[in-house]
Amino acid sequence: MAEVVAVLDFGSQYTQVIARRLRECQVYSKVLPFSTSAEELKKEGVKGVILSGGPSSVFADNAPHPDKAIFDLGVPVLGICYGIQLLGYLLGGKAEHSEEREYGKGTLTITGESPLLNGVNKTIQVWNSHGDKLTELPEGFTPVATTENSDFAAIQDTKRQFFGLQFHPEVFHTEQGTDIIRNFVFDICKCEGDWTMESYIESSIASIRDTVGDKKVILGLSGGVDSSVAAKLIHDAIGTQLTCVFVDNGLLRKDEREAVKKLYGDHFQINLVVADSADLFLERLAGVTDPEQKRKIIGNTFIDVFEDEVEIIGTVDFLAQGTIYPDIIESVPIDGNPASLIKSHHNVGGLPERMKLKILEPLNQLFKDEVRLLGKSLGLPDSVVWRQPFPGPGLAVRVLGDITEDKLVVLREADAILLEEMKAADLYYKVWQSFAVFLPVRTVGVMGDERTYDNVIALRIVESVDAMTADWAKLDHDLLAKISNRIINEVKGVNRVVLDISSKPPSTIEWE
Ligand code: XMP
Repeated sequence: MAEVVAVLDFGSQYTQVIARRLRECQVYSKVLPFSTSAEELKKEGVKGVILSGGPSSVFADNAPHPDKAIFDLGVPVLGICYGIQLLGYLLGGKAEHSEEREYGKGTLTITGESPLLNGVNKTIQVWNSHGDKLTELPEGFTPVATTENSDFAAIQDTKRQFFGLQFHPEVFHTEQGTDIIRNFVFDICKCEGDWTMESYIESSIASIRDTVGDKKVILGLSGGVDSSVAAKLIHDAIGTQLTCVFVDNGLLRKDEREAVKKLYGDHFQINLVVADSADLFLERLAGVTDPEQKRKIIGNTFIDVFEDEVEIIGTVDFLAQGTIYPDIIESVPIDGNPASLIKSHHNVGGLPERMKLKILEPLNQLFKDEVRLLGKSLGLPDSVVWRQPFPGPGLAVRVLGDITEDKLVVLREADAILLEEMKAADLYYKVWQSFAVFLPVRTVGVMGDERTYDNVIALRIVESVDAMTADWAKLDHDLLAKISNRIINEVKGVNRVVLDISSKPPSTIEWE
């Protein structure tokens, strides 16, 4: 069994980031509720415990406190942010509201020897977000670093192997934060770093089997990275107890439906139901031009179709979703208040409550790049694992204005040519997204001796790392010329191709 370091969750938005840093050190981390008993931790055989940050004040009524017996387990404990306050407060020191809240970047100065800070520069930039601070240390503790506003920015009791950090070593803004975490797991907890993706798969499969038992699971497969990886992982765990539903909403790209059927149904032999609901979606979308209205209709129709499918399938107990960690919370603060980055996720809202289904989200502790690695390890092809993002509402937000089947046909053909050329030029996987947009205008052209009055296709090709910001890709002019010529020559009804040269912000990636 892999070595485990437990991360007790006191509600910080960074808890999963701590877990991720541990995985990067190839140490298996388990995020557990703050109230997990020492007895349970002992059963897990934990080699160390990390107390996460959290929004509360340790001395407030109802503040979350851990089982105090964890301090008698004989394993190292690291308290981060709220966690350091807990160490101080529960072990006999004093924590108080601070006059100067420390928030954002600060400078840490190391003032003493510490195995936790080994190899770290004497002064580093750190990321703070706390209102309270320790004013008196418990017996046995000594301070080993300070910040502008805190004499106890890092503390330790090396005899008992207890350590506390007022700042967040796990976030990207803290310099050498990874070194600090490595020191904790390797030098202090004596972990060996034996965790691999294979062992993650093994434990995920065991946990899915344990949760599901002999019950049935349904999953809405979109063909995107997250739902595909979730489907393959769950299928590996419970085989035919899983049924995937692929909703053909009529807003898919060219050949998409066939590709999904071939890979998941034929190749992986997953129970796959294809819901043929293009007509219903297009009927409900007829004449609708407002983008948000389109999204709402598509979301609601999806739920209706999904419910009908579940009815046909029979008794289902679990709804599986490919929710990943950043769907729930954004990992790295960009600037300002990190809490403002908490976002609601795009997944099928409202469905589980209405259908009284239990939720199964086996990827909800993983970041996108980890999901890709997992997908690779599960044997999914690059065309799935490295697929460009495609919005849930599909081509509906790429046919500007009202949607008709005729427009969709034109857009699909143009889009397929763009994607084909991007792949041929070895650029498909290098850009963030590349797609065609159908504009709601017609322009005059001339083909042969004839005047045409036809549609315009815009090319949107962007580079980005996280879709929060993006820039238009500076593609070779010859390639752009080829794409444009092919679209105008091969797609009936298009006489003009334009290139979108806007960055995000102020534009967005999609046009609607
Ligand atoms: P924007 O257009 O906001 O897009 O710059 C950022 C990223 O999100 C995708 N996107 C969506 N994905 N449902 C989705 O599942 C949506 O309604 C939606 N709108 C935009 C977009 O393709 C890009 O990757």
